[in-house]
Amino acid sequence: MEAPMTAALDEQWKAHRLRVEAQLPLYVAAHADFPETLRESMLYSLMAGGKRLRPVLVLLAAEACGGQWQEALPAACAIEMVHTYSLVHDDLPAMDDDDLRRGRPTNHVVYGEAMAVLAGDALLTLAFEVIAQHIADKSVAAECCLDLANASGPLGMVAGQVADLAAEHAGEATVEQLEHIHRRKTGRLLCSALTLGGRVAKADTDTLLALARYGNAVGLAFQIADDLLDVQGDPQKLGKQTQKDATAGKLTYPSLIGAEASRSKAEGLIKEACQAISGMGKKGKPLIDMAQFVLSRDH
Ligand code: IPE
Ligand code: IPE
Ligand code: MG
Ligand code: MG
Ligand code: MG
Repeated sequence: MEAPMTAALDEQWKAHRLRVEAQLPLYVAAHADFPETLRESMLYSLMAGGKRLRPVLVLLAAEACGGQWQEALPAACAIEMVHTYSLVHDDLPAMDDDDLRRGRPTNHVVYGEAMAVLAGDALLTLAFEVIAQHIADKSVAAECCLDLANASGPLGMVAGQVADLAAEHAGEATVEQLEHIHRRKTGRLLCSALTLGGRVAKADTDTLLALARYGNAVGLAFQIADDLLDVQGDPQKLGKQTQKDATAGKLTYPSLIGAEASRSKAEGLIKEACQAISGMGKKGKPLIDMAQFVLSRDH
C-alpha cells in the first residue's frame, strides 16, 4: 500500500529537515572544550540522516498554531537529540543488539559500548540545555523541558523500553499490554513533538489537547508501522536490519494479531488523529498529510 507523500508536504519536510540538520551540529559545537571522541561519536549518530520526523513535526505544529519555525528550532533539535540517544542505546548489545542504523554501522560497533552509552547520555542532557538556553521565553522553556522529560523519562520512553525488554520471550500477552508498551516506548515522545511545537507558538489549552490526541494516535500508529516494516520492509530503504523482532522474541503487533489486523489498527489510529485536529482547518493540512505518510511509509 504505497502512497507517496503529497508534493507540498515533501517540500516543507525537506526545508525543515535542512534547517534542523544545519542547526544540530552548531549546538554540539557550541561547547569548545569537550572530548573529541565524544563529539565524534555524538555527531556520528546525530548526523547520520534519518527522517527527522519528530523535529519536523515540532516545526509543523508550531506553524499550524500560528507560530514561526525559527522559535521552535531549539525544541526541534532537542527532540531529535533525545530520539537519537534512544536509538544509540536501543541498539546496544544489552538491548536490541543491532549493528546497522540509519544506513551505517551502529554507534557501539564504531566507538565501542562505553562511548555509545556516554554519547547517548551526552545527547540526552544536551537536549535539555538547548531548550533552557535557546528558548527565549523562560516559562515556555520550562514547560517544554517538562513535556520532553515526561515523554522520554521513567513515565515515557524509558518505561516503554523496560517493558519491551521484559516482554521478550515472555509468552502469553494481551493487546492491551502491547499497546501500553508501544504508547510509552514510541508514542509519548512522538506526541511531545506536537505539544512542544504548540507550546512554543503559545497555543491555547484546547489546541494543545487536540495536538496531544493527534500525537498519541500517530505515535502508536508509527510504532505499528515500524513493527510491520520489520517483517515486510526493505533494509536498504530502512537503513536498518529487518526480520529482527521475531528472532529476538519481541512482542509486536504483527506477531500478536497478524499483519492485516495491524494495518487496520494503524488505519483507525490515523483517522482518529486527523479527526482530532479537524478544527485547525487549512492550517492543519501538513499534519494531516504527515499522518497519511506514517501509514504508507516504507522507511
Ligand atoms: C525508529 O524511529 C525507532 C522507533 C521509534 C520506531 P525512526 O523510524 O523515526 O528512525 P529515524 O530517525 O528515521 O532513523
Ligand atoms: C524503538 O523500538 C523504540 C525506541 C525507543 C528506540 P524498536 O526497537 O522497534 O526500534 P528499531 O526497530 O530498533 O528502530
Ligand atoms: Mg527496541
Ligand atoms: Mg530496536
Ligand atoms: Mg522496530
